[in-house]
Amino acid sequence: MQDDVILKISNLSKSFGPVKALRGVDFELRKGEIHAVAGENGAGKSTLMNVIDGILQPDSGEIILDGAPVTISSPTEAQRLGIGFVHQEIALCPDVSVAENIFMSRTNVSRSWLMNYEKLERDAANVFRRLSDIDASVLLRELSISNQQLVEIAKALTLDCRILILDEPTAALTENEAQTLFRIMRELADQGISIIYISHRMVEILDNCDRVSVFRDGKHIVTSDVADITPGDVVNAMVGRIVDKLYPEKQSADETSEEIILDVKNLNEGPRIRDVSFALKRGEILGIAGLIGAGRSEIARGICRLEGAATGEVWLLGEKLALRNYQDSIAKGMVYLSEDRKGDGLFLDLPISENVSALNLDQVANRLGLIRASSEISQAGDLGRKLNLKCGSLSDPVSSLSGGNQQKVALAKMLSVNPRLIFLDEPTRGVDVGAKSEIHRILRDLARSGVGIIVISSELPELIGVCDRVIVVREGRISGEVAGHDMTEENIMRLASVMDAQAVSF
Ligand SMILES: Nc1ncnc2c1ncn2[C@@H]1O[C@H](COP(=O)(O)OP(=O)(O)OP(=O)(O)O)[C@@H](O)[C@H]1O
Ligand SMILES: [Mg+2]
Repeated sequence: MQDDVILKISNLSKSFGPVKALRGVDFELRKGEIHAVAGENGAGKSTLMNVIDGILQPDSGEIILDGAPVTISSPTEAQRLGIGFVHQEIALCPDVSVAENIFMSRTNVSRSWLMNYEKLERDAANVFRRLSDIDASVLLRELSISNQQLVEIAKALTLDCRILILDEPTAALTENEAQTLFRIMRELADQGISIIYISHRMVEILDNCDRVSVFRDGKHIVTSDVADITPGDVVNAMVGRIVDKLYPEKQSADETSEEIILDVKNLNEGPRIRDVSFALKRGEILGIAGLIGAGRSEIARGICRLEGAATGEVWLLGEKLALRNYQDSIAKGMVYLSEDRKGDGLFLDLPISENVSALNLDQVANRLGLIRASSEISQAGDLGRKLNLKCGSLSDPVSSLSGGNQQKVALAKMLSVNPRLIFLDEPTRGVDVGAKSEIHRILRDLARSGVGIIVISSELPELIGVCDRVIVVREGRISGEVAGHDMTEENIMRLASVMDAQAVSF
């Protein structure tokens, strides 16, 4: 074993019933390196990390820490060994303060029954200041997802660990927050801390990591210095075939139509939605861009009546809608795929099949109104095949799926109502490159078949790659629109950012 190898995994296997999540995996982590782990959804990345953190016990294989074999029996044991873990899904308590969340894992160590809240808040604020300007005394549930993610990261940073595992930490962060995180990661690495960094974003891996290991189908495929590998090599190792085209064809000139699917006129709701008007034509995919917090989701949620009571007119296929709530919206065929799959997207403890049919119980119920499990399964099976869903059985709970596959279940749930219009909020967050292009192709096919598609995304390459036209939102109002060759990252950023001269004058 090389001197600078701090953690070595050898020939490790782990199955969940018939699913072989890890098959004879080898992995080495050096002192002070940032080591990226890449692989398609379901490749086994999180499973391996759960083993390293003592959440899961391997079926066979060895974990060698500092040259000696160890058994990591629990996360507490892992923490004692100096291993910290930022989970892919936010695992915090919504009803206690940010400070308490950050120090939660510590308080069970403390002997005093009464916790010293003031000290907690002060310490939390110290850790936090480096990452953001969030007030550590507010309740966690009052924070946005991106801020909750920062709390999760801050929590791990307080643990004085030697090995820090970050499982897709930037999926919910803004570009600036992500850059701050990368700076902190490099400082920690320079201090000798070893970091395992899981991400589906190639640029992040290539720009910020020292080495990358690629996994496929539970197997370790390759480990390489980042300097010696191209993005194409990584993608090919991930999917096991050559991927030449990431995005589907755009709408062609002879596919354009004047038929309007959605027409929004003067939508207003306090400061969050300000006089928003736009139209979606048949066959086109419309993107909504903007900085996080600019009001992109609010507009979609306002139109679908998921929240608030926006005024203005919404016309769907020539009919003026008078929606009272989201149920009415679904009944009209207008659905919203949430960016928060845990909060309002999916029921994690319920079977995949029940999740898929959750919006659409009429289709799977018999004449007495009882739900037929067999219809649920066959409907979920059809959609699952279309979306290339990777799972053991459709009656397994959604929580047993990898992150990206959970996203596909959320999408299948929307498709099950045969919608006329779908708003997709960050539809490919946490989804691997292969499945991502699969989802994009499905969106294009749906648009061609006449379903209205509106995509909200923080990933500009995705919007530019998928959409025919993009509207940009800033501070609740539409600040501009780009299409065709004008659809560039620079143009969109300029319209989205407050730096623009116009936005400074109120
Ligand atoms: N608790 C569990 N019960 C049953 N199957 C599981 C469980 N956890 C993971 N799996 C299965 O093991 C495989 C590997 O999953 P894992 O979560 O490690 O993938 P991943 O590489 O992290 O994917 P992603 O990029 O989507 O997060 C998947 O097929 C998954 O469905
Ligand atoms: Mg994962």
